[in-house]
Amino acid sequence: MTTVLITGPTRGLGRAATLALAGRADLILVGRSGKALTAVADEARARGSRVHEVGCDLSHLADVRAAASTVRDLLDSGAAGPLHALIANAGAMSADTRRASADGYELTFAVNYLAHAQLIGDLLGSLTAPARIVLLGSNTYSANFWRRLLHVPEADWRDPVEIARPAAGTEHPGTAASGVAYSNAKLAILYYAHELQRHTGPGIGVAVFEPGWMPGTALGRDAPPALQAIMRGLGRLPGVSTPKRSGPALASVALDEKWAGLRDGAFVLKDKVVQTQPVAHDRARERRLWEATAELLAARS
Ligand SMILES: NC(=O)c1ccc[n+]([C@@H]2O[C@H](COP(=O)([O-])OP(=O)(O)OC[C@H]3O[C@@H](n4cnc5c(N)ncnc54)[C@H](OP(=O)(O)O)[C@@H]3O)[C@@H](O)[C@H]2O)c1
Repeated sequence: MTTVLITGPTRGLGRAATLALAGRADLILVGRSGKALTAVADEARARGSRVHEVGCDLSHLADVRAAASTVRDLLDSGAAGPLHALIANAGAMSADTRRASADGYELTFAVNYLAHAQLIGDLLGSLTAPARIVLLGSNTYSANFWRRLLHVPEADWRDPVEIARPAAGTEHPGTAASGVAYSNAKLAILYYAHELQRHTGPGIGVAVFEPGWMPGTALGRDAPPALQAIMRGLGRLPGVSTPKRSGPALASVALDEKWAGLRDGAFVLKDKVVQTQPVAHDRARERRLWEATAELLAARS
């Protein structure tokens, strides 16, 4: 059976996608060690997959490198079958942009983007063609009428080294700053996906998946409790996206023949390829992000 690696399988979208993949692929689950990781692994095994649990805190680059090395050992020894898809799903939205990862980088940027750039870089040579890399994007990178109405900030791009720097000062930077950090991390993922495709062989396709707005997940668990309660309520409204609906769509992008031709960071909104906004395509920013990412990762190696 083909093997799929997914980060963030313990809850929300990642858990739903993992269970949709179960029985169709062997799985390498990369997530924080603990009961939730074991539970989803057991559930996937019960559905017929061979499952490898790889404990990893993505806010710690040394952990990410160790996880990549464990995955390489699994593949090289034949304990895991050929790796045909990697889903970089894990995500976080830190409420305070002064918070830093173990490596001193702004936490949202570190978990959503830098950790996955490290993991993918370390595993690129271990994928077996034809292979797919699916990154998790979010439409919040660019404003529209509804997001303005709901005060969801769009990206405010700066040099990546600056974006990676936690905010300074004793005053809380506020929820808008947290939203901008999240949107910047998701814009970085789009730029990275475009550039990554230029660095991979022809047998590897890079795509970005947008699950739709899923206000009921734990992504905003760091937000003020009142806001979290509102989000949970919105998550129950008919029509909004949920992990239950979008998880199988993410699994499909990683496995189904229908999506085999995805390349160049094609942006899949649930089950349709959509055009991204002009701001998402910028060769100079993409090149600079690639170079800055190498510097940021090397500085903590
Ligand atoms: N929710 C939305 O509306 C929405 C919209 C567009 C895109 N997305 C993207 O979809 C993806 C999944 O989001 P979700 O809504 O399902 O969020 P979620 O319910 O909070 O799940 C996030 C997953 O990421 C993992 N994670 C977070 N920080 C981690 C760390 N330091 N180390 C290892 N794992 C870590 C979590 O593991 P733990 O269980 O250990 O915390 C969890 O498995 C994210 O990339 C998100 O940005 C979400």
